[in-house]
Amino acid sequence: MKKRALNIDHIEESERSAEAGKNSDFRPKTGALIVFEGPEGSGKSTQLDKLIKYFKKKKSKTVLLREPGGTVISEKIRSIILDRTHTNMSEKTELLLYIACRAQIIEEKITKLLEEGYTILQDRFYLATIVYQGYARGIDRKWIDELNKYALDGLKEDLTIIYDVTQAEAQKRMKKRTKKDRLDEEDTEFHTKVRDGYLKEAKKMDNCIVISTDNKDEDSVFKETLYHLERKGFI
Ligand SMILES: Nc1ncnc2c1ncn2[C@@H]1O[C@H](COP(=O)(O)OP(=O)(O)O)[C@@H](O)[C@H]1O
Ligand SMILES: [Mg+2]
Repeated sequence: MKKRALNIDHIEESERSAEAGKNSDFRPKTGALIVFEGPEGSGKSTQLDKLIKYFKKKKSKTVLLREPGGTVISEKIRSIILDRTHTNMSEKTELLLYIACRAQIIEEKITKLLEEGYTILQDRFYLATIVYQGYARGIDRKWIDELNKYALDGLKEDLTIIYDVTQAEAQKRMKKRTKKDRLDEEDTEFHTKVRDGYLKEAKKMDNCIVISTDNKDEDSVFKETLYHLERKGFI
């Protein structure tokens, strides 16, 4: 029984390779999930705005999704999470709301889009929960890992790009932001823990690139991003 299963796997694998050989022009036939992470003010939204335009110009099947959010239900949960008047939100509630958002976007959008061959540019994903709820809020990692596992249901990203920024630089940039949310109100110590968390986790991940953005203008960071995406075969 076991042998038969192995044989079937083998046949499917060969067929997939033959298929890949026929259409080796553009990689995301079966879709790709590219995640963008980094502290507030590291430039994720700025870069993703440029990237989605770049991908659309090439007419490739690409979508931009954000967390928390990305579906009608998740956007409603997002507004609860980020509401500045919710100063008494419990850490457990916050964690569970992020996980709820993730479960919804995965089931409703990500899984289907990947099956349809889309490249998904994802503004934040499970790493953000590890860093914000784990490193910065101090919630026991075992809950975070279990809940992430439950929401992800076996889904794995193809690449993570982390934009790094020092707190001093991020603060300078965030002064320009007029619309502040509940997380923008957190202190320097919180955001420093977030940054350190990203850098520590990056070292443990296999498909992860860190791009430092201090003293680099938006176009230089964009060029660096394209360089890595090309090198990894996504464009
Ligand atoms: N490389 C950069 N150098 C200077 N300012 C930047 C850079 N990238 C983004 N910014 C500015 O910093 C602010 C935060 O950028 P944003 O893309 O919203 O960050 P994030 O989405 O990671 O929070 C914006 O005002 C943006 O114009
Ligand atoms: Mg943003």
